[in-house]
Amino acid sequence: MSATFSLFSQRLSCAELLLPQYLNQEVTLAGWVFHHRDQGGVIFIDLRDRSGVMQLVFDLSTNKELFRQAEELRSEDVILVRGVLRKRDVDSINPKIRTGELEVLVRELHVLNKSKPSPFSLDTYEETASEELRLEYRYLDLRRLPMQEAIAKRHEFTHYIRNFLVQNGFWEVETPILNKSTPEGARDFLVPSRLHPGSFYALPQSPQIFKQILMVGQIERYYQIARCFRDEDLRKDRQPEFTQIDLEMSFVNQNMLMELSEKMILSALKEVFAIEIPSPLPRLSYKEALENYGTDKPDIRFGMKLVELGDWAYQTEFQVFRQAVEKKGRLKALVVPGGAELSRKEIDELTHWVMQDFKAKGLAWIKIGEEGFESLITKYLSEEAQRELLQRSGAQKGDIIFFGAGSADIVFPTLSALRLKMAERFGLINPKQYAALWVVDFPLFELDSQTHLPASMHHPFTAPQEEDRPKLLRLKDKPIERLSQEDLEDLLSIRSQAYDLVLNGVEIGGGSLRIYDNELQRAVFHLLRISEKEAQDRFGFLLTALQYGAPPHGGIAFGLDRILMLALGRNSIREVIPFPKTQKGTCLMSQAPSRVDELQLREIHIKTLVPTPPNPG
Ligand code: AMO
Repeated sequence: MSATFSLFSQRLSCAELLLPQYLNQEVTLAGWVFHHRDQGGVIFIDLRDRSGVMQLVFDLSTNKELFRQAEELRSEDVILVRGVLRKRDVDSINPKIRTGELEVLVRELHVLNKSKPSPFSLDTYEETASEELRLEYRYLDLRRLPMQEAIAKRHEFTHYIRNFLVQNGFWEVETPILNKSTPEGARDFLVPSRLHPGSFYALPQSPQIFKQILMVGQIERYYQIARCFRDEDLRKDRQPEFTQIDLEMSFVNQNMLMELSEKMILSALKEVFAIEIPSPLPRLSYKEALENYGTDKPDIRFGMKLVELGDWAYQTEFQVFRQAVEKKGRLKALVVPGGAELSRKEIDELTHWVMQDFKAKGLAWIKIGEEGFESLITKYLSEEAQRELLQRSGAQKGDIIFFGAGSADIVFPTLSALRLKMAERFGLINPKQYAALWVVDFPLFELDSQTHLPASMHHPFTAPQEEDRPKLLRLKDKPIERLSQEDLEDLLSIRSQAYDLVLNGVEIGGGSLRIYDNELQRAVFHLLRISEKEAQDRFGFLLTALQYGAPPHGGIAFGLDRILMLALGRNSIREVIPFPKTQKGTCLMSQAPSRVDELQLREIHIKTLVPTPPNPG
């Protein structure tokens, strides 16, 4: 074998053989057996490596022994061959592959390793196997073209980003994985400490606090391709373990940060994926995003903006509309071009869906048919109200108007989801198109949907806008349980210096300028009902650091997996992560998470409530 291994240094890749200098020369290749065709007297084998494929020819008339060895080869066997690179006969040229005009007449074959048969085909671009099977045998799945493409592009993308940031004066700095908990709104993954019985580390939800402390530590410009861990319910764009392109800068304002990171992401998309998105990107305030699209992550590849009908409600006799507005709720409409063709059955299904998934009380609609309005609610609308509705909504013959009436936290999510569903139903989204925007001017606080108490919309280190700072300081000494309605409204009207980048309706990044003075940070903690003691316990180190000459600073983090998912047109981030977890948070290849033995548990002072099976040893 050692003689074979010495040939590795001469190995060329399939793609390298496209260079003219190798034609008619003896070449050495190594890789996997892909296709195998026996054409009586001649065996053709496609050898595959990460750069592509090359046709190998074994000719019975030139070398019987070699031919016999080639007959034994099976898909996925690992081989090394030497032979002469030549042009194929005209009738065997394959225009579909880059090396389709070439082949290697093999003179020497070394079988490096045999393979069991793959449980699924590696040959098609489309998935033929179930995702479970692909994840269980991920090493085979990774050999498939779409996965090779994803991993290669992932590498190219991070490489580009690293270069970009280095050129802009950023230092790559690692922050700890074993941490105190950082609040990003999700549950922590905990790691028990052996040396400190009963104490736990938390895996970082993001490097947030450490990157801020790096700014206090005079690092000035930091970045990291950072692994983050969040124990939350999983979806197609969420993994418990994911990667952020994380950065932080000192002496920076919001505009500088947005411009720099916009340039970074747009130029990387252009360079690596040939996706061109014109700059500067539109900037929409949180309020505008909500009013126009019902969401802070609008997909702006198509129109269908929501129509405001709050005051029009009073022109109608329809109690549902009038009451929604009287109760300080909202009345908004969504016009679906061509939507009059929706059947009653489809509308009933939509109604059922919005009632079930969004707690909407119903879904009122009007079709604009040949004969005018077709709807159960037409009888409540005077001619004048109908005219006004058409004028405001711009609805045309053949369209349908859907109405959302009720409290804002139901109307907006309902119409936003309906807008997307209808855009898909009527083919309004071009999957090849990319449209991005910034969403800015987020409120600093929102009311928690469960507790109805103020909570951070981003995270508690986000700075308020300068002009709203007095509002915050005014409330800082008020006992939180005694805030008047007016105080609360004031609180919710404070805007932050936070910004999100949205691509095709997916939030791909978010960041903010940070609070850098201790007084303001304490005021925010107070309003979040984080007591002095709790603040000290949880982030005392940050609060202390802020007292030692913290520079004004800010940053942003991008979800690398989400960007790649969108750029590659995949429908889940699992398709761009080499070893992802399933929806249930398991790794089907390694079977993590798994039980551990008693001894291991005892060492870390852990007793589980579920019975542990006996130690296999
Ligand atoms: P945020 O929580 O908004 O901000 O996260 C930044 C970006 O990370 C991506 N992301 C995820 N991707 C995959 N799976 C997940 N579970 C997941 N959660 C988030 C999203 C998101 O936009 N420290 C702040 C950033 C800052 O303020 O600088 C932070 O983590 O694309």
